[in-house]
Amino acid sequence: MNVSKARITAIGSYVPDKKLTNHDLEEMIETNDEWIVQRTGIKERRIALDTEFTSDISVKAVENLIERYEKSLDDVDMVIVCTMTPDFKTPSVSALVQAKLGIKNTGAIDLNAACSGFAYGLHIANGLITSGLNKKILVIGAETFSKILDYSDRSTCILFGDGGGAVLVEFDEENPSFIDVHMGTNGELAHNLYCTDLSNQMFGNELAVNGFVNQNGREVYKWAVNTVPKGIKALLEKAQFETTDVDWFVPHSANLRIIESICSRTGLPLEQTIYSLEYYGNTSAASIPLSLDKGVKEGKIKTNDKMLLYGFGGGLTHAGMLINWTI
Ligand code: UT7
Repeated sequence: MNVSKARITAIGSYVPDKKLTNHDLEEMIETNDEWIVQRTGIKERRIALDTEFTSDISVKAVENLIERYEKSLDDVDMVIVCTMTPDFKTPSVSALVQAKLGIKNTGAIDLNAACSGFAYGLHIANGLITSGLNKKILVIGAETFSKILDYSDRSTCILFGDGGGAVLVEFDEENPSFIDVHMGTNGELAHNLYCTDLSNQMFGNELAVNGFVNQNGREVYKWAVNTVPKGIKALLEKAQFETTDVDWFVPHSANLRIIESICSRTGLPLEQTIYSLEYYGNTSAASIPLSLDKGVKEGKIKTNDKMLLYGFGGGLTHAGMLINWTI
């Protein structure tokens, strides 16, 4: 079991107002509500304004945190924004967030581990604080996926949505949050989920040079339902936890069928699972903090609950964390 000196002390979240429902999508492409709900569990998703970017969503998530908890950002010494949809290649989203929030003396870094991003961000924040290098870190998971979707490609545009969540991680030896972690990468499967960029030709698919997300959904699905349950078992074993010790399972909200399959393969009860996909879709790095905040607002997650977070997606990467809920 790891020794942590870092504690999650506050949470906030934000989603754009504009909703895109399955019925709206029926008007745009050849699809239907029944297919989308049966295959994914998603009913609607949020879409950012043309003028609203990942840094704006990040700032609003942090503002929501500040409104709800008596926290000062003055002594934040690191901002980590987990995203695969940055406003620019440079400057980083985290630098824009630092400026917009007026944080005076802080480092700022973006982290791209796609849908696993938030778990990676928490892991790094825990490491920096536990090692004594930092004292107070903002970890934000935020995406504007609508900006990299091809709304004529029904295999991807029905899945993803926009939003963000933020937590504050602070030094605390007495009451740390972080219990244990398990991560893995299958870069050899990277071609199954990518967004074209400077290395457009890399996967030998010249037709896909479009700047949009491209996904072989079936392959990612197969990988997820095989890899995540094994990762969960490895994590629980390492931490000497039984599935019954877990109060809430918070998986990446990619697809309800994937979550159901993970639950049946691991013995984690679906009723003790919190997900955000029904009304927000797959929000990539934002999905876990959005689910956590949903659980908090609904009064499900209580102080000292044992939480199992598990991110998985592009890379292909996966990352699981066992945490003690310390807010
Ligand atoms: O967050 C990152 C990680 N990503 C994921 O976890 C995504 C993993 N994959 C999935 O969630 C699923 O693979 C999808 C939801 C993307 C697709 O579900 P599927 O059961 O794998 O469907 P499929 O791609 O095998 O397509 C089945 C059929 C095809 O028609 P035929 O060939 O059987 O005639 C598709 O053309 O459904 C068709 N189809 C659609 N029909 C209506 C594909 N997209 C749609 C659509 N509406 N939007």
